[in-house]
Amino acid sequence: MSCIEIHALSKSYNSVVAVDAVDLNVKSGQVFGFLGPNGAGKSTLIKLLTTLIQPNNGTISVLGINALEEPLEIRKKIGVVLQQPSYEPTLTVEKSLEKYGMMWNVDKKIRKERTEQLLESFELTEIRKKNMEDLSIGQRRRVQVAREFMHDMDLLFLDEPTVGLDPSARRKLLDFLKTKVKETGMTIFYTTHVLTEAEYLCDNIAIINNGKIITVDSPNELKNRFGNEKTIKIHVSEDIKKLENFLQEIPDCKIEQNDGVIITIHSSNSEIVLMNILKILNQNNIAIDDLSAMPTNLEEIFLKVVSDSDASNN
Ligand SMILES: Nc1ncnc2c1ncn2[C@@H]1O[C@H](COP(=O)(O)OP(=O)(O)O)[C@@H](O)[C@H]1O
Ligand SMILES: [Mg+2]
Repeated sequence: MSCIEIHALSKSYNSVVAVDAVDLNVKSGQVFGFLGPNGAGKSTLIKLLTTLIQPNNGTISVLGINALEEPLEIRKKIGVVLQQPSYEPTLTVEKSLEKYGMMWNVDKKIRKERTEQLLESFELTEIRKKNMEDLSIGQRRRVQVAREFMHDMDLLFLDEPTVGLDPSARRKLLDFLKTKVKETGMTIFYTTHVLTEAEYLCDNIAIINNGKIITVDSPNELKNRFGNEKTIKIHVSEDIKKLENFLQEIPDCKIEQNDGVIITIHSSNSEIVLMNILKILNQNNIAIDDLSAMPTNLEEIFLKVVSDSDASNN
């Protein structure tokens, strides 16, 4: 079943097109990652989907409900953690959870149980009596995410929830989310600008840049599609310009950078390219200090996909 369906969705702020004619279909029961650099349009899309702002164009259906016609029906069924911090400064951690449960009309007994479970899962037990205003950014963020789980929901939107968390808290949160999706069949819509996080957590990843979706794939498909890519680095002590000129003649040899000492090449046909490089070095008596070839990692793929889409826009 489709959990989110978007068609031709656009949102502008004055002259800035934040979301640009987006089509998207998200199936339920998964973690769906929305990955893109700052300013890509992730938060705007979350605000549109959670009915906090209105689009200029297009249609949105969330859990089968039309967002333009029945926004309140959607809000009853979803959870949202926005990017901006939101908390009551003088409330303690445990009271924050408790109060959230009350807002959602959660039964008193269940409220108590859940509060204890969540304090534990989010490692908040030690600071349960502390006021929200006295917490670190990361601690506050953890409370903000934890309290959302006080109520049952079919769909949860999380907008960069791990910003400010240390690596261990980050990993715990990701594992908590994974387990919840498995146990309950709920859907999580998760934005991040960190690719490794999306790779670890998400069943599918949409990459967004400049308000447009560039690609939607599972992490494995993304790797397969770009995974043959290798990054070749050649350290050259002299004649670097001459070598660069020769390299430009090799097919599938894309020179990413020449910083005067190291030439960096991306290639999806690296074995042939390497053979050709060695041949050129030999034939022309060019001395090198080092030569290496490594699989291009997903972080580089992400940066490349984004910069390719920037280039095709300009
Ligand atoms: N309230 C606003 N008023 C004007 N411009 C905005 C507003 N919110 C976002 N933008 C602009 O819209 C674009 C997308 O922003 P945003 O959705 O916050 O991206 P992301 O969450 O991916 O960083 C950016 O260029 C941003 O500056
Ligand atoms: Mg944002």
